[in-house]
Amino acid sequence: MIIVLFGPPGSGKGTQAKRLVVQSGKPQLSTGDMLRTAISKGTKTGLEAKTFMDKGSLVPDSVVVELIRERIQESDCKKGFTLDGFPRTLPQAESLDLMLKSQSRQVGYAVLFDIQDAELVKRLSGRRTCLKCGAMFHLESAKPKRDGFCDQCDSFLVQRDDDRPDVIQKRLEVYHKQTSPLVEFYKKQNKLKTLDASLPQDLVFTKLVEVTSK
Ligand code: AP5
Repeated sequence: MIIVLFGPPGSGKGTQAKRLVVQSGKPQLSTGDMLRTAISKGTKTGLEAKTFMDKGSLVPDSVVVELIRERIQESDCKKGFTLDGFPRTLPQAESLDLMLKSQSRQVGYAVLFDIQDAELVKRLSGRRTCLKCGAMFHLESAKPKRDGFCDQCDSFLVQRDDDRPDVIQKRLEVYHKQTSPLVEFYKKQNKLKTLDASLPQDLVFTKLVEVTSK
């Protein structure tokens, strides 16, 4: 099963994708994580992407499509995978369909994480991420046991560069303009499932498993 998780920044896609990995054993393909890894390694792709990400803009379609094209050839993707944050534009969604078609596969479900912008600003400004293992926390709703340190590997927790108020605002605008047309795209394909992403994390996960296992 190939599942697409899409929705505005901070809606909980990454949190739930990680839980699906544990539950299903299938990999999470996050273009945001891939790009941040490329930035930390100082690759050409990373350097190019950083200029867009720091402003809250989308990285060019050609860059992210190539990342996904390469990643889905890997053996761990044979039994299915969860896409987190890709596709994010209509051309990306069309490219994905073509890529999968060439492997005689297709998207099973596209799950929209539906939530109001005001809640997202709170979530993003309080988010903290582990520098080492990528585990995610929130200063109010998912506090680490020890302030500033990861529960899982005890490394430092950091705030993402693009979680500053001005950049959050821009990312939300970009979502409404460039990503929300995917709702119609997947509705037409009869693959759209909508989740209330404002619910508590455990409840969102229960519903996610429910809608993707039919
Ligand atoms: P990316 O890393 O994909 O960021 P995003 O889509 O903006 O999403 P986030 O990771 O910010 O949020 P999320 O929905 O995963 O929420 P999370 O689970 O973390 O992309 C970053 C940038 O890379 C983009 O701006 C762009 O420049 C570039 N990029 C990436 N993909 C691209 C593409 N395909 N094309 C072009 N450019 C691309 O949760 C957020 C917080 O809320 C956490 O603290 C969490 O603990 C908390 N939380 C989660 N669920 C709940 C809940 N139910 N209740 C309360 N709190 C919750």
